[in-house]
Amino acid sequence: MDKIYRIAIDGPAGAGKSTMAKLLAEKLGIDYIDTGAMYRAIALKLLRTGTDYHDEKALGKLLDTTDVDYYGGKVYLDGEDVSSLIRTPEVSSMASESSAVPAVRDKLGELQMAIAKKRSLLMDGRDIGTVIIPDAEFKFFLTASSRIRAYRRICEMREKGIECDLDQVEQEIQERDYRDSHRDYHPLKKADDAIEIDTSDLKISDVVDKMMEIINEKIN
Ligand code: DC
Repeated sequence: MDKIYRIAIDGPAGAGKSTMAKLLAEKLGIDYIDTGAMYRAIALKLLRTGTDYHDEKALGKLLDTTDVDYYGGKVYLDGEDVSSLIRTPEVSSMASESSAVPAVRDKLGELQMAIAKKRSLLMDGRDIGTVIIPDAEFKFFLTASSRIRAYRRICEMREKGIECDLDQVEQEIQERDYRDSHRDYHPLKKADDAIEIDTSDLKISDVVDKMMEIINEKIN
């Protein structure tokens, strides 16, 4: 691709964004940026330092002295590759809470906007098509029913040898959806010009093919 193409993929947790985004970026030969991983890195730092994100002064100091970066499929916190440390339930929960804080969003938003400048890339998250790259050439919004997302989560956990209750996982997913889409600042929201794909009954490869088809139609 000679021209610059920026692809924004948003949607709730468990809709399959990261898996599909990674595959699509690979097919297109462009970089993939997982912005959720960046929120998780900040959450990890909050947990490690025992900083209360409600304490504006302490949070400001932490954000001013923290370096987050994402490249080569890995997320770096103050230069340390923390990719394998950010998928725990504690970090998920802290990321969900702290990502609602405007100071956190402003810091990461600025970084993400700088990363997305003047280059082809695929970025996924919650506010990419609405806030970070509002003029992206392609915008997708991936959804799936909360039941299906809970089921996918159960399968993931089972692979790791952890058994969970489907109803409880679904309830947690619904609570997280509510928090993500009802926060005052930059909530999870479909951009008006985003193409919505319900992945509930689709295979990963079907969704990737569908997005690829839409992209090819426009660029060829
Ligand atoms: O996609 P994820 O589950 O790894 O994201 C972790 C948390 O960060 C999740 O609670 C939503 C939040 N997030 C966000 O608010 N904005 C983004 N662009 C990406 C993630």
